[in-house]
Amino acid sequence: MPGGGFHPVKLLFELSGEHPELPLLELSSVVEALQGGVPSVTRDSSLAVTETHLDPSHIGERIALCHRVCEVMASGPLDSLMDVAGGLDLGGSVAVRCRKVSRLREERCSEVERRFGDILAGSHPIDLVNPSTLVRVILGEESYLTVQRHEVDRASFERRKVASRPFFYPISLHPKFARLLVNMTGVGSGETLLDPFCGTGGILIEAGLVGAAPVGSDLRGDMVEGCGVNLTKFGVEADLFQADVGELREHVEGVDAIATDPPYGRSTTMGSDIADLYSRSFEVFSDVLGKGRRLAIIVPKEDLVDLGREYMDLEASHPLRVHKSLTRHFCLFRN
Ligand SMILES: C[S@@+](CC[C@H](N)C(=O)[O-])C[C@H]1O[C@@H](n2cnc3c(N)ncnc32)[C@H](O)[C@@H]1O
Repeated sequence: MPGGGFHPVKLLFELSGEHPELPLLELSSVVEALQGGVPSVTRDSSLAVTETHLDPSHIGERIALCHRVCEVMASGPLDSLMDVAGGLDLGGSVAVRCRKVSRLREERCSEVERRFGDILAGSHPIDLVNPSTLVRVILGEESYLTVQRHEVDRASFERRKVASRPFFYPISLHPKFARLLVNMTGVGSGETLLDPFCGTGGILIEAGLVGAAPVGSDLRGDMVEGCGVNLTKFGVEADLFQADVGELREHVEGVDAIATDPPYGRSTTMGSDIADLYSRSFEVFSDVLGKGRRLAIIVPKEDLVDLGREYMDLEASHPLRVHKSLTRHFCLFRN
């Protein structure tokens, strides 16, 4: 759904380091969802740059695998950035921080901060503790003179971890990865997002917090009940029901997105064969998900990804090793 209203600016995202590809996939999906069109994103080391009319905070409040959103004032050789810095009027106190994200850069950050600080001090008060504007000089393959517009509240994801939920079960994703799955679907505000293996509700909490309308189900009645308690704690309302994944057609149709983390082994499949469960699930998902809409799913083995390709188009698949015997494959399918 189109959004925004800001004049177009170039935004630089300082992505986080959990994975080489997933932060960029999350960012592209979120910008696409919020602006209603596929963005053109340039990558530089762990940075991503895109031009958009969206409010930087609007993006920054939604994404998980990112540290900061900055507005690019200029990019190019450091000398040219200093010329631009000399002409800036940021209307208040400033502090300068430099960050090196490319190993090939030889400059010393403290020296860069001193030089830019000297230039900006000519027209701004310097306040290193509580500046009205934080100027960030980022040294990637390219150099960027930026102004920080939003710092992602990564601690908020820690506050929603399993241990802080009233209904506890040790099989839940970290909230930042639950948010990633939700964001990969590109679900829009008010649109339905289904998690048919909802467990304790980690994915549904994140879906509700980004403004989607969560719908959840699970084979186990105690999970559905506990999930409801957890959602209430975080102020999220959802449509919840108990069902085997094979019965979904009787409950839902035309959902706008599916984000899910199905069982990884027999201990949570309630005895079903894992390949059979995934195969049944993909078939049902292709029936209840709207055409052209997306499924973001974690699969615990690479060969299970192929089961999904029989029903939907695979857009991305990225392995993330958890420990010796578990690698999660974050997959994105389009119906
Ligand atoms: C990996 S857990 C989901 C964890 C969840 N993401 C969370 O945050 O708690 C898998 C869930 O699938 C449910 N499940 C297992 N077999 C099922 C089936 N055939 N249909 C629906 N749910 C099933 C289990 O009861 C369990 O709650």
